[in-house]
Amino acid sequence: MTEPKKSGSGKMWGGRFSEGTAASVEAFSASIHYDSRLYKYDIAGSKAHAAMLASQGILTKEELATITDGLTAIEKEIDQGTFEFRRELEDIHMNIEKSLVERIGPAGAKLHSARSRNDQVALDFKMYLRDQCDTLILLLDDIRKAFVLLARKYLGNIMPGYTHMQRAQPVQIAHHMLAYYEMFSRDRERMVDCRKRLNLSPLGCAAMAGTGLPIDREQVAKALGFDGVTANSMDTSGDRDYAIEFTSDCTMIQLHLSRLSEELVLWSSQEFDFVNISDKFCTGSSIMPQKKNPDIPELIRGKSGRVVGSLMTLITLVKGLPLTYNRDLQEDKEPVFDTVDTVSASLSIMAELLENLSFNTTRMLDATKTGCITATDLADYLVLRNVPFREAHGIVGRAVAYCLEKGCELPDLTLEELASFSKEISKDVYEVLSVEGSVNSRISTGGTAIQRVEEAVTAAEKKLGIA
Ligand code: ARG
Repeated sequence: MTEPKKSGSGKMWGGRFSEGTAASVEAFSASIHYDSRLYKYDIAGSKAHAAMLASQGILTKEELATITDGLTAIEKEIDQGTFEFRRELEDIHMNIEKSLVERIGPAGAKLHSARSRNDQVALDFKMYLRDQCDTLILLLDDIRKAFVLLARKYLGNIMPGYTHMQRAQPVQIAHHMLAYYEMFSRDRERMVDCRKRLNLSPLGCAAMAGTGLPIDREQVAKALGFDGVTANSMDTSGDRDYAIEFTSDCTMIQLHLSRLSEELVLWSSQEFDFVNISDKFCTGSSIMPQKKNPDIPELIRGKSGRVVGSLMTLITLVKGLPLTYNRDLQEDKEPVFDTVDTVSASLSIMAELLENLSFNTTRMLDATKTGCITATDLADYLVLRNVPFREAHGIVGRAVAYCLEKGCELPDLTLEELASFSKEISKDVYEVLSVEGSVNSRISTGGTAIQRVEEAVTAAEKKLGIA
């Protein structure tokens, strides 16, 4: 009798192979150096899977106990940094399973019944992303809170609002802060929504067609905190919508942070001198002793490039992939991990920076005193006196040109000068030409009048539970 041939590669899947894997291939295809991040989810998933196999009679109670203990021991070693990850075992799933088999023998080899790495990796990834959604929601709450605190602190202080980066209309600083509060509130809603949509368990779809073994997918889903199970095994095996959606939602957060960063960079320049970013968040120059650079907003602005890049990576990864699982999908993790790290760190440091930010209110108010910033108010004044808006726009335009030529502002003009542009203009015009009058006239819903903004601050405080 001839000896049965040994599995050539020594791999867990090596049965049909007669040659070992090339070292170059092992190096090229391994993902353990980054997917080890998923170990807790992999172990929790395996424990729930094993418990289900036991209640379905596929594992004995004793086998379940040894598997559970073995997995607990492995988790402890990984926690402590003493577990030896092996590149030749490719990924986190194989590393854990192989180690389990080495520890407990045949029972360990039964764990992978009714399961494939395809549904296993989807399970781990979804559980990981679910936690990241929760963490990001908390970080978003921190930054929303920082904006509301600033809005409350500077309620009543006025600054120029800009369009085209030109002074447009005077607004409250608080109104500007609450604009960001709204942006990050939408980001929060998106995260909640993303979590809800991804929270269906893929486990039990096996490779892609389901399994003939008598499993109970719902039991596993319930044990792992899922709202239910996915409906189609083929869809599930190749689905990465949730990773793309998550990264897209993160991209939106980073874009909002980047716009804010741009404003902070501008506002902290000597040209603007609107804000003081605490020394703790700035750095100096190695050559120019006078410099205080806003590196943190700059870095956050710069890091939006990598987040957008990750989103592009994921989208491109899935484009043109036939159903169902393809190894290409292993490339989904690094961009997601990098996005999680980048966006969490950016959100958290920006919230801290905002807590240490102060506005130069005199300088900001002064900036509203030039550039005929209340011109729209003059036009509205004429509209209330029955002048068609387009005509009023022309009248005010001519008055502005006159001011520019004279080198003065609209409120500096005498009543006689103002009335020369329209007979509808009388003494009360000066009320609308004042910056305060202008701001407080904007009482439309969502407008910058003090009473509207105060209501908005109070509503936000209530939502955040800081009232
Ligand atoms: N490491 C793989 C990944 O991340 C796990 C799934 C591998 N499945 C397979 N049939 N080779 O996608």
